[in-house]
Amino acid sequence: MNKDTLAKKISSGNQDMDDFLAGGYETDIVTTLFGPSGSGKTTLAMIAAVNVVRNKKKVIYIDTEASFSVDRLKQIAPDDFELILKNMLFLKPVNFKEQQKAFDKLRSLVNDSIGLIVIDTISMLYRLEMGQTKDVYDVNKKLGMQLSYLSEITRKKGIPVIVTNQVYSNFEEKDKVNIVGGDILRYSSKTLVELQCCKNSVRSLILRKSRALEEDKRFLFRLINEGIEKVKE
Ligand SMILES: Nc1ncnc2c1ncn2[C@@H]1O[C@H](COP(=O)(O)OP(=O)(O)OP(=O)(O)O)[C@@H](O)[C@H]1O
Ligand SMILES: [Mg+2]
Repeated sequence: MNKDTLAKKISSGNQDMDDFLAGGYETDIVTTLFGPSGSGKTTLAMIAAVNVVRNKKKVIYIDTEASFSVDRLKQIAPDDFELILKNMLFLKPVNFKEQQKAFDKLRSLVNDSIGLIVIDTISMLYRLEMGQTKDVYDVNKKLGMQLSYLSEITRKKGIPVIVTNQVYSNFEEKDKVNIVGGDILRYSSKTLVELQCCKNSVRSLILRKSRALEEDKRFLFRLINEGIEKVKE
């Protein structure tokens, strides 16, 4: 890794959120956004992607649950959504085997023109496969390999990676949630961002793990047509 890739960041797509994140998402690590349905994971991935394309780079978007909506993109980027779409490469696996293939394909797609890789969400098809397979070890191993590949790309190529993930209730501590995929996912991300939904449509973004920022710091926001807007505490 050369010096230039150290501490580089890309904008999150929102100025206030960039200030909160001291510049945005780091370019040499995997950032995981996790939270319940409707908390804003896909919206955050979309506004980051829009910003990357506006800065003349391309985005690879692995969409495992048909989350990406062109109508939503039109709200976020009404004037240039066509250009944005032209510069986004979508992979849409429908089962875990196809997700594995999408990762194999990623190797041939990654080049200097790519400015962001999004996996939205990493655990949906994994979770389905875990419910069906007789070989839990093998499925876990594959998920682990997918995540190490993401860590390798981001570290070696300086391409930021945003992974979204679902949560399930923690029965021991009611106010806490667990990440699907558990420790494998927790350890492979150097930044973990929890999204919580919603009080009067206000969502919280909480830094749960960070290399350089204060943990458990909170940013409040609302979803709007253009993406997100900060809400003052
Ligand atoms: N134009 C808009 N203005 C305000 N809120 C919106 C707008 N468009 C969509 N939403 C809200 O955004 C929420 C969905 O956000 P998003 O898709 O980012 O969530 P998510 O965390 O990715 O959810 P999931 O886990 O189901 O994929 C819904 O509650 C929806 O009502
Ligand atoms: Mg989503």
